[in-house]
Amino acid sequence: MTRNKNMAALKAGYLFPEVARRRRAFAEAHPDAHIISLGVGNTTEPLPKTITKGLVDGAARLGTMEGYVGYTDEGFIELRQKISEVYYKGQFSADEIFVSDGAKCDIGRLQILFGSAVSIAVQDPSYPVYVDGSIIMGVQNISFLPCTAKNNYFPDLSAIPANSLVYFCSPNNPTGAVATKEQLKALVDTARAKGCIIIFDAAYSCFIRDASLPKSIFEIEGAKECAIEVQSFSKPAGFTGVRLGWTVVPKELRYTVVSTGSTTETTGATVHSDWNRIMGTLFNGASNIAQWGGLAALSSEGQAEMKGLCDYYLGNAAIIRSTLETKGIQCIGGDNAPYVWAKFPGRDSWDVFNEILEKCQVVTTPGAGFGPAGEGYIRFSAFGHRKDVEEACKRLGCF
Ligand SMILES: Cc1ncc(COP(=O)(O)O)c(C=O)c1O
Repeated sequence: MTRNKNMAALKAGYLFPEVARRRRAFAEAHPDAHIISLGVGNTTEPLPKTITKGLVDGAARLGTMEGYVGYTDEGFIELRQKISEVYYKGQFSADEIFVSDGAKCDIGRLQILFGSAVSIAVQDPSYPVYVDGSIIMGVQNISFLPCTAKNNYFPDLSAIPANSLVYFCSPNNPTGAVATKEQLKALVDTARAKGCIIIFDAAYSCFIRDASLPKSIFEIEGAKECAIEVQSFSKPAGFTGVRLGWTVVPKELRYTVVSTGSTTETTGATVHSDWNRIMGTLFNGASNIAQWGGLAALSSEGQAEMKGLCDYYLGNAAIIRSTLETKGIQCIGGDNAPYVWAKFPGRDSWDVFNEILEKCQVVTTPGAGFGPAGEGYIRFSAFGHRKDVEEACKRLGCF
C-alpha cells in the first residue's frame, strides 16, 4: 500500500503541533517554568448557563422515548431556520444552510467538492487549513495574495487568477484585519467578473464591534452568485470541543468559467446540489446534543451570553495590544478580532517566538507559520484566562 504522495508535499509539521513541540521541549528543559500560552486559538472560558442547559437538556431528551432522535442529516430544521434568521435576516431557506461539526471540517469537505484540478487563491498570511488541506487534495496551483502593512492587510485583487477558488477570512486569522463593505464589494465584483467562487470564512464574525463592518459576505450584493460561507459556534459559544458549525451554499451559485471576456456555465449541476451529495455521502450530521446547545445559543439569552464571551476575549486582546504598543511595537487586530498581529521588522518570526518563550515563558505563534508574508510578525491570541493574560503582559513588558 503506498502513501498519498501529496502528504510529502506538505511543509514539515502543521504549525500548531510544531509550536506545541517547542513548548514541550522548553518545559522539559525548565521544569519550574510557569508557561503561559497566548498561542493557539483555543477557547478557555466555561460554557455560559443557558447554553450549558441546552446541552444538558438535549442529552436528557435522548434518554426519553418521546425526545429521542437519531441521524439528523443536514441539521435540525429549526436550527437551520434560526441561523438564517439570526445571521442572515432570513434571506436563506433552511435547505441552503448545512449544519456541521465545525468550520474546519467543512473546509476540508469543500476541498473535495472542488477537487485537485482547481486553482486556489489565499490571503497570505492565512489560516493554514486552506493551503494544507488543498495540498493534501493534490491542488498544485496556489496563488498567495500578500496582506501586509503595505496594503493595509487587504490583497491586490488583480492578482486573483480567473476561475479560481478564493479563500477569504474576515476577521482574519492571524492578522485580525476586518475587510470593509467596500473591500468585500470589490472582492465579490472581482469573483463574478473572473468566474471565481469565494469560500468566505466568517468564524470570527462575532468579535466585530464596529457596526460599519460586514459580518457576512452575504451582506454584499451579488455574493449569492459567487460565494459560500463557513461559520462556527466554536469561538462565540465556547464550542471548540463540543463541535458545531454550518455552511451556507446559496441555490443561485453556479459553476462558471470565464475565458476571453465571456462567461460560460459549465454544467447543469448547481454547487448546492453537489454539496448536498457530498454531505450525504461523507457526513452523517452534527451531534444532536450539540445542535440543542446551538439552539440554546441562538435564544435571546444565549446570544447575550455569546456576546459576553466574545467581550471577555476582546478585553484580553485590548490588554495585549496596549502592552505591545506601549513598548513601541506596531500592531493591528484585537479591536474586532481575538488576535493581535505584531510587527517585528527584519526579524525571523521563529526567532522572535523563541526569544519570547525563553525570556517571558510566554507561547505565541510565529507569523511565518501562516504563510510567507507572515514572516517578521507574531500572532498573540486573546484566548486565555484574564489573570494569565495579565501575567503574560507583565512579563512581556520586560521583553
Ligand atoms: C479562520 C478559522 N476558521 C475555522 C476555524 C475552525 O473552526 P471550527 O472549530 O468550527 O472547526 C478556525 C479555528 O481556529 C479558524 O481560525
